[in-house]
Amino acid sequence: MPSSTSEKVYVIGATGNIGIKVVNSLLAREVSTTIYVRDVEKSRALFASSTNASTHLTFVQGDYADLSAFKSSIAGHNRLFLLVADVENMPTIKQDLGTIAYSAGVKQIVDLSSRFALLDWRTSFIGESHRLAEERLYQLALQHGGTVVSLRPSRFFTNHTWTKGALTHLNAVVDCHPSDLKVEYISIDDIADVATVVLTDPIEKHQSRAYTLIGDSVDGVTRASYFGQILNKPIVYKQVSPQELVDTMVKSDSPWPLAYDMATVDTTRAPTDAVPILLGRPYETLESWVLKNKELFV
Ligand SMILES: NC(=O)c1ccc[n+]([C@@H]2O[C@H](COP(=O)([O-])OP(=O)(O)OC[C@H]3O[C@@H](n4cnc5c(N)ncnc54)[C@H](OP(=O)(O)O)[C@@H]3O)[C@@H](O)[C@H]2O)c1
Repeated sequence: MPSSTSEKVYVIGATGNIGIKVVNSLLAREVSTTIYVRDVEKSRALFASSTNASTHLTFVQGDYADLSAFKSSIAGHNRLFLLVADVENMPTIKQDLGTIAYSAGVKQIVDLSSRFALLDWRTSFIGESHRLAEERLYQLALQHGGTVVSLRPSRFFTNHTWTKGALTHLNAVVDCHPSDLKVEYISIDDIADVATVVLTDPIEKHQSRAYTLIGDSVDGVTRASYFGQILNKPIVYKQVSPQELVDTMVKSDSPWPLAYDMATVDTTRAPTDAVPILLGRPYETLESWVLKNKELFV
């Protein structure tokens, strides 16, 4: 059952990969939506042609570093979509935002977490931050009689844009896994669609669930073949050692803890049932995403 149009949703992270689609989908459903953005003019331009933006979209200028604008604008909203890009400081930022939100009467937070939160305790920098943030939001929800739905996506399809250089210069997809090992991925459109459904379903339906989002598990040789199709040249899979992957990422300015995660985490589960159940359709496949987003790689 769709929510009533008296619902008001607040969105943090509105101008990023996932946030843009969440905001556009909420507006298309005529949900009053407030977005917390660093640059209002840039954001106005971004959503200028969005359906119902002129009537249903409100902009608040703010930053993680100073939450006063969030504090003075959150009252009257019953739901919050919470995506924080600062992985290192995420637990504190989400705790502060969650405290303000629940105290102001928010009943549901939809938190963009990570499937890495399920890895062995403290074995991953990304996992530890997301898990701590989840735990703090969950405790806050219990204290305030609210709910928190944690979305735990695995590796985004869009991460492939990070390694565009290897496609161009080495004609290769480079990773440290054996070539036949299937690794987890997920479409950002699927993540955004799940978020939109949860934000517009009755709050009681999802309570404080956590949804693990693994959409496609693909081995290295198969991934390389998708890029060969769009680039019209042979692309091979090149397996490097975990040490080489870390060194290459650090040379390209990745923080060492992130590079270590990418070289060591075990993300080899099969796709989960969340999208088929919640959205009533199959997950987007990596192949279809690569073919659809050729312009990102040529
Ligand atoms: N990549 C993966 O494989 C993966 C997997 C699981 C989970 N995740 C999680 O997904 C999230 C990233 O999602 P995404 O790709 O949609 O992010 P994104 O495209 O990088 O967007 C980040 C958003 O956060 C905003 N933002 C950044 N710094 C801010 C600040 N100081 N104050 C206020 N807003 C700020 C950005 O606004 P501006 O437009 O002003 O920059 C933008 O709206 C992270 O939490 C990450 O840990 C990623």
